[in-house]
Amino acid sequence: MGKRTDFLYMSEQDMIDAGVNDAAKCVDVCEEVFKLLATGDYLMGGSNHNSHGLALVFPETTPFPNMPVAGPDRRFVAMPAYLGGRFDICGNKWYGSNAANREHGLPRSVLTLVLNDKETGEPLAFQSANLLSSARTGCIPGVACRYLARKNSKVLAVVGCGAVNHACVAGIMSQVPTIEKIVCYNLTFAHGQQFADWAAETFGVEAVCVKTCEEALAEADLVSVAASRKAPLVIEDEWVKPGTLMMLSGPMTAPDSLWENTTMVWDNTKLHEAYVADARASEDYHKGYAAQIGGPVYELIDQGKKEPLSEATDLGHIILGEKQGRTSDDERIIFIASGMAVFDLGWGYTLYQNALEKGIGQKLTLWDSPAQAE
Ligand SMILES: NC(=O)c1ccc[n+]([C@@H]2O[C@H](COP(=O)([O-])OP(=O)(O)OC[C@H]3O[C@@H](n4cnc5c(N)ncnc54)[C@H](O)[C@@H]3O)[C@@H](O)[C@H]2O)c1
Repeated sequence: MGKRTDFLYMSEQDMIDAGVNDAAKCVDVCEEVFKLLATGDYLMGGSNHNSHGLALVFPETTPFPNMPVAGPDRRFVAMPAYLGGRFDICGNKWYGSNAANREHGLPRSVLTLVLNDKETGEPLAFQSANLLSSARTGCIPGVACRYLARKNSKVLAVVGCGAVNHACVAGIMSQVPTIEKIVCYNLTFAHGQQFADWAAETFGVEAVCVKTCEEALAEADLVSVAASRKAPLVIEDEWVKPGTLMMLSGPMTAPDSLWENTTMVWDNTKLHEAYVADARASEDYHKGYAAQIGGPVYELIDQGKKEPLSEATDLGHIILGEKQGRTSDDERIIFIASGMAVFDLGWGYTLYQNALEKGIGQKLTLWDSPAQAE
């Protein structure tokens, strides 16, 4: 007789009941993950252990009638990882994305996370991961604010008013109680206005929507950028005032002078080194660079105009006190966060533990006894 394997199934409602939207707690967990990244107690995919994930992308055309073809935001991505410390867990976030999902009453991406026993590979939990992924994406800027925001920051600018920035604002607002005003800018004004209404009601602060990005940044102490690539987002150097902390969860285009005259802090320089290596292995590395949030900086590093990634600053090293964070009230800082599966694992494991404690979720059986245990 072999060993019985059960795992916990957690629906989206189970994730909510387990606390997935508790931004302050999620920021704490993300901070722990940043420390593990800095000490190196983690693994991600690929031979360099720092790959963001493996994407399944579709051809422009195909002779096979059922094979998917390329479309806006259409892909599947697997993001495996091991996270050490008290988590000590393996897992994989797996998602399918298709802009056309909206027409079917679905979010653009449908995400799940599997947590596995690191020794045996048995599944421990299968979780609905849309809210999980949004929460960790939003709480990463929350951690950045703890260490990089100017004291007494009062105005938060939101550039790109979609799902990710909803989560980012929740993460940031859980950490910066001095914020009095949120200024929103979005490609479509109506969405920006809806976002501002939501922010005013949720956080009890003044929230407005403005017609230009320049207006949004005019008074901002903090800027959260998470625009999709529907239209290029251009941010001019002179729009960013001294002392601003810009947190990029999505891409932006800016003149070289903005990147050159701003301190860079990265989520994990090793991840960005892996992005650069991947791009360099392709035919046109500029195209590979352009696909990444940090792409414009990779170009400047190659030109010797920015410090190489091997010498650049990670947030985790600032948290550990090994590197300096903000050095003055006038310093402009750009924090780049590209998203990593280790954060999904950290928050997913925490919610799994909560669920076990509170009896949330449904126990499912993989097998009573494995047929191939011999
Ligand atoms: N860093 C991470 O971990 C992470 C995780 C998930 C998604 N993302 C990125 O975050 C970004 C936003 O994702 P989302 O799910 O919120 O998308 P979304 O489609 O829900 O929202 C994006 C919003 O940006 C707006 N927008 C597009 N171009 C703009 C422009 N030029 N100026 C102003 N607004 C513009 C759109 O109108 C839309 O309202 C994407 O780039 C996505 O790839 C990052």
